[in-house]
Amino acid sequence: MSTSSLHEGEKVTALTLAAKKKRGELITMLTAYDYPTALALDHAGVDSILVGDSLGMVVLGYETTLSVTMEDMIHHSKAVSRGARRAHLIGDMPFMSYQVSSAEALRNAGRFLQEAGMDAVKLEGGRHMASTIAVIVAAGIPVMGHLGLTPQSIRKLGGWKVQGTSAEAARRLVEDAHILENAGCYAVILEAIPDRVAEVITQRLHIPVIGIGAGAGCDGQVLVSNDLLGSFDRFTPRFARKYADLSAVMEQAFRAYADDVTSRRFPAPEHSYHIGDEEFEALMQDLRMKPRNWRVV
Ligand code: KIV
Repeated sequence: MSTSSLHEGEKVTALTLAAKKKRGELITMLTAYDYPTALALDHAGVDSILVGDSLGMVVLGYETTLSVTMEDMIHHSKAVSRGARRAHLIGDMPFMSYQVSSAEALRNAGRFLQEAGMDAVKLEGGRHMASTIAVIVAAGIPVMGHLGLTPQSIRKLGGWKVQGTSAEAARRLVEDAHILENAGCYAVILEAIPDRVAEVITQRLHIPVIGIGAGAGCDGQVLVSNDLLGSFDRFTPRFARKYADLSAVMEQAFRAYADDVTSRRFPAPEHSYHIGDEEFEALMQDLRMKPRNWRVV
């Protein structure tokens, strides 16, 4: 099948994303961690869903992504793959699931495809991850790279800081991007780097480059869905655009519910189940109770 014949409803693959880059069509990607979000993203026609380890912060309430485990990721990836039929699905390898040895990395990468229904995995890091990436790719598992601000290295980076702002650091990023491509990555994410540096990398690589806080010159964009929806209000990164304020909507709905319950406006008769008059009277007799002013419908 030629990728250019792809029409709505067909599965998006790594080849589809490569074809989009070739045609100059922008790639859309968002994160999901559960079934209903995956379903909505799929219906909205978003090309790719990342089950990011941002899960740890925006869903599980950790301060960083460092506490996220393989079991957390597999559990949430399974839910996402049950919801999405069309989008290309990427499972994010959590901290310490791929750094110790290539063998361990390969086994954990395999779990995302075998147990969780993902199409590919993503891992963070540049040149030092090249041999691990090559081992995973050789086993038939597509790998997406992640350069720039890599949250699993937050302790080493000293905080959530823009990367690649000096000529030397930017040159190193360009080199790392080439190294990841040569190691077999089918795509790479650039996070929080200057827009012109990201554009240079995008022009130089043959594989799709997806940006998050990397300007408009990339082949596509990814955001954490909770930032876009406004359902994570601890902080919103400068690079995220808020399309909704779900935290406020949720709080308002929860207040209205609590108000209705305490003022007896909920549940109403239409939310209740009813017993027939005869059966209810028989029950009253059995219990030797007098029907008060119960409303028997
Ligand atoms: O974990 C995640 O959601 C990510 C994106 C920020 C790219 O890695």
